[in-house]
Amino acid sequence: MDNTVKVTINGRDYQVAKGSLLIEAAKSVGIDIPVFCYHPKMKPVGACRMCLVEVEKAPKLQTACTAPVADGMIVHTKSPKAVAAQNSVIEFLLANHPLDCPVCDRGGECPLQDNTFGYGKGLSVFSEPKRHFVKPIPLSSKVLLDRERCIMCYRCVRFTREIAGDETLTVLDRGSWSQIGVMEGRTFDSPFSGNTIEICPVGALTSAQYRFKARPWDIKNSPSVCSQCSVGCNVNLTIRENAIARVLSRENAPVDDGWLCDRGRFNYQFVARPDRLTQPLIRRNGELAPATWAEAIGFLRDRIQETLVKRGPSAVAAVASPTGTTEEAYLLQKLMRAVIGSNNVDYTFNQHPAGGKLPYDAATGSIVGLERANVVLLFDVNPIVDQPVLDLRLKKAVGKGTKIVVVGPDKIDLVDYATQWLKVPAGSAGEVARALVAAVAQENLAKEEFVTARVRGTEVVLADARAFDLEAAAIRLGVAKDRLVQLARLFASAGAASVLYRRAGASAELSDAVVDLALLTGQLGRPGAGIYPLVNDANEQGAIDVGAVSTRLPGHRRVADSGARQELSDLWGKAVPATTGVAGSDILGAAAAGSISALYLIGQDPAVAGPEVQAALKRLDLLVVQDAFLTETAKLASVVLPGATFAEKTGTFTNLERRVQRLREAVKVPGEARQDWRIVSDLGVALGGDFDYREASDVLSEIAIVVPIYRGVTLAKLGSKGIQWPRRGADGTGTESLYAAEDEPAIIDLSTSGETGIVRVGSNPA
Ligand code: SF4
Ligand code: FES
Repeated sequence: MDNTVKVTINGRDYQVAKGSLLIEAAKSVGIDIPVFCYHPKMKPVGACRMCLVEVEKAPKLQTACTAPVADGMIVHTKSPKAVAAQNSVIEFLLANHPLDCPVCDRGGECPLQDNTFGYGKGLSVFSEPKRHFVKPIPLSSKVLLDRERCIMCYRCVRFTREIAGDETLTVLDRGSWSQIGVMEGRTFDSPFSGNTIEICPVGALTSAQYRFKARPWDIKNSPSVCSQCSVGCNVNLTIRENAIARVLSRENAPVDDGWLCDRGRFNYQFVARPDRLTQPLIRRNGELAPATWAEAIGFLRDRIQETLVKRGPSAVAAVASPTGTTEEAYLLQKLMRAVIGSNNVDYTFNQHPAGGKLPYDAATGSIVGLERANVVLLFDVNPIVDQPVLDLRLKKAVGKGTKIVVVGPDKIDLVDYATQWLKVPAGSAGEVARALVAAVAQENLAKEEFVTARVRGTEVVLADARAFDLEAAAIRLGVAKDRLVQLARLFASAGAASVLYRRAGASAELSDAVVDLALLTGQLGRPGAGIYPLVNDANEQGAIDVGAVSTRLPGHRRVADSGARQELSDLWGKAVPATTGVAGSDILGAAAAGSISALYLIGQDPAVAGPEVQAALKRLDLLVVQDAFLTETAKLASVVLPGATFAEKTGTFTNLERRVQRLREAVKVPGEARQDWRIVSDLGVALGGDFDYREASDVLSEIAIVVPIYRGVTLAKLGSKGIQWPRRGADGTGTESLYAAEDEPAIIDLSTSGETGIVRVGSNPA
């Protein structure tokens, strides 16, 4: 079926998408029509009239942002009538505009300036005095409003209604006195408020933090990735005089859809805090005293070697940062395994989820894929707090018809978007998931074709599920049995359905039941059908991927996997220890008990938890803290190594959907601080390891060899959009859905844990 129509624009014929708006059709063939109120992510309103064009046979000029294309349409965007209308609109918009461009933060980056230059006639018939308001007034502590600059395009109001869904802004008063304001009885406390600054096409909404801080010609934008949560929104860091002046969104549509949350946008001052660590410190006579890098690394080498001689490798442990780069996490676990000889490495002091029937400890799907889900089950998650821009994606999915089901005790904001809220007691998500598996078995809802082709070992799961007392579970959960059955039916019968749950603290019951549920109902391996164990921190996934986990080697392979250990031993030239290490959640206990006597922490501050942890840390013979600040833990350290913040690092982060993205050094570290990967590497060299890297990209090159799921990943290939691992085939694209049908034969065995649970996952990454 031909999905195009023929239109003639400015005398030339084009085939454009059927049903598209004229503004979009024109853009698709390279013709710009000026706009203010139109925004591609929001419904058209036709408020500003900037996009008036002449359409033959139409009785009057048409707004291109509201007019759909029709076959045979003849359009003139530059005819005398269209040009006169564009001139007039600019003239009217400027009638009350203060023309204070020299002191406006938008000056030089302003669509109103650009359209005035491009489509105005440079003259005005208005000589009356302009309307004036007190300026600016705060809409919140972050967003300021200069009312006289506002052109009433309603982009800001529409954003809060259509995208954020919090309806915090509105139009107050009427006629020429209309002004943007906060909805009565509300504050502009939206976690997404800063987006309105960016989409305001004039300087009416400005950032309180950025106001009067810079001009466009004295800044540069450095592309980066937000470090505040696991979504991995793309950003541009505006840099002035080696400091971040503001953070702007840098659209990577599948990840962030062009939006940022306020945490990511406004939380950057820590980078330039005056109390940054600028040189190494060594404790001498009970006090931390400045030292050179040579002294600090030499001191560490001697003390670690001493510990190894006296206590052996099992007395040494290390914890990487979940907000550090993948490169530094990789090097830390390599240091522990190939140099120290211990698997005592982690990236967190929290417990990892128990269970795990799939080989990869990662989300199987993509963020954008959720828009294609018919049903999404949310088990005890709250994205607006933990992964804010994912919350916007789910709201967008609802707008496209996705049914959201919230399972949990709390009325999270997505309850207002959900088709149902299964209000169950805290901690019972696992039982709900198990009950849904039971309902699938008892009501014969399993997808036979999928199960036969892709799954083995269902006998045990089905036998357990059939024996499960659904009635009793319903009573314990406080919901009707019929609701559980209906929910299982909804999930099983959906064209595509996904499950999101909180990875941290997930029980074996929950993490295993969601796998059983997805596999029995065939909801895996295609866009919209998948399992998302949601991680919280910016690079938790990267740390897991490269083996900064006591039980997992690089590439999610188990420490118990002798083949994987041998492969790594061959690559590193050092035997990889076979004993499972002490998990992060047990390290402090082991320190308190005296079985760990040397601990190396990167970007971790456990001492804030209180006296018990502080006492455990004080028992250590050697506490090494690598951080950008003198934290409570650093104050107890034997050696403090000054590291870098995300804005100063080169390397990669991997987000919650397995997308490896590039971090660039946007500002220089203060004083003698160093990038964290380099510090670990220097220590590795001092201890006699093979840590000869000149750049962070050299570390990524090694990761691409050592970690099978990262094969083919290089900084250059990541480009500006990143790649979802594993990178595939000749064209080097990423993998939107793990365990996809095209990977067949991919047989997953439910009767075993993920260690051996997969019989074969088809094509390996290129
Ligand atoms: Fe438009 Fe900006 Fe006015 Fe909001 S404040 S209506 S975005 S011009
Ligand atoms: Fe079309 Fe505003 S852009 S009316």
